[in-house]
Amino acid sequence: METTSVPVLPLNNGLWQGCYNGRESSLHQLAPYVGKLKSGMVNVLLETFTRRGDLVLDPFCGSGVVPLESILMGRATIASDLSPYAYVVTLGKLSAPSSRSEALHAAEDVLAQVDELSPRIHLASIPEWVIQFFHPRTLQETLAAFQILKKREDYFLTACLLGILHHVRPGFLSYPASHLTPYLRTRMYPPESQPQLYSYRDLRSRLLAKVERAYRRPDLDEDWGGTPYKVFQVNAMLLPIKAESIDAIISSPPYFGALDYARDNRLRLWFLGVPDWRNLDKALTANQKVYIPQMTQCVAEMNRVLRPGKYCVLVLGDVYRDGTTRNTAEVIAGIAHDVSHGQLVAEGVYSDEIPDIRRSRRRTRTTKIEKILVLKKRPRRTQLPSPSFPTAVAEERLAYALA
Ligand SMILES: C[S@@+](CC[C@H](N)C(=O)[O-])C[C@H]1O[C@@H](n2cnc3c(N)ncnc32)[C@H](O)[C@@H]1O
Repeated sequence: METTSVPVLPLNNGLWQGCYNGRESSLHQLAPYVGKLKSGMVNVLLETFTRRGDLVLDPFCGSGVVPLESILMGRATIASDLSPYAYVVTLGKLSAPSSRSEALHAAEDVLAQVDELSPRIHLASIPEWVIQFFHPRTLQETLAAFQILKKREDYFLTACLLGILHHVRPGFLSYPASHLTPYLRTRMYPPESQPQLYSYRDLRSRLLAKVERAYRRPDLDEDWGGTPYKVFQVNAMLLPIKAESIDAIISSPPYFGALDYARDNRLRLWFLGVPDWRNLDKALTANQKVYIPQMTQCVAEMNRVLRPGKYCVLVLGDVYRDGTTRNTAEVIAGIAHDVSHGQLVAEGVYSDEIPDIRRSRRRTRTTKIEKILVLKKRPRRTQLPSPSFPTAVAEERLAYALA
């Protein structure tokens, strides 16, 4: 695969650095995710490449930063990811109740059912690697809650629960463990000298506090719930979306298998009914051997569903492995040109420094430079300029895209 040299564009990343996290909707912090985008960056990309009422697609939605920011900004959205964890967290954010009191009421309801069910939960069939993270009574309550929430199809509270599953801090359910990836920190926090960290942690106070935190900066005005959305759990190589029905694609595809989306979320995935994360990592475009052929198919799908004259904006990182640097943005630009027969044109690449060090596979280092590849699908010669659609019409556009 040839790479394409793409002009580097100047970028004012001051627009999303610094204090942006203090202003974002706290729903963005519902649950952690490796490779999560900065909501401030997504806000600027949506502002630049879309209009109110547009239909925005993110086929690798992860924790749902693009779809959530889209509906907060009045853009209809279709989100998809192959990981059940990504699916639940994204749907949890988009389906959040419109008020704190409604969310707390639902949580109280669930907790009353947990009180009844949890003493009857048997731990004999639970794998040892899961048992070691929790006090037995906390684990009974957590298992009961997942069971009840599944039955109620309550994705918001399920996402809240996933968000407090493991961490070092006392507001979380596990014994001291890492937040992003599940490993216990018994050496740093020995049970002999800090036994209080290994005692029972009640679900009730922690879940209610989590719901409160989710509504700290709600940003949910009276329009919340009015902007249409759809979330899928499908492979981006085959999207259940009509051709030329999407106004903009904003997404962050995997970069040459640099991050382990399934392994890093294995404990959360287990509670969602995925017994072995390895099968999911095999299915994701998480392996450098399959990266080029699978991304070729994904880019072909993105080109198929995008309307002519519209933008596909991809946030990508370079990957250093075994002494070689892969300029992912240039590779994807080359793929886009080839699979679209020149219809997807790379207008340029913006560069942004990633401030935090992200965990990645051994022998792999993701660069601290994140690149934003801007692809534009050539307009049809006879195309009329498209009007700005009010949100009411976005509902019809979503229905059309999914029909
Ligand atoms: C860089 S992450 C996206 C992060 C997301 N933008 C966020 O802010 O949380 C890439 C995502 O691609 C998903 N993924 C990898 N291969 C996929 C495939 N073939 N089809 C669908 N999703 C895939 C992974 O599960 C992961 O969530």
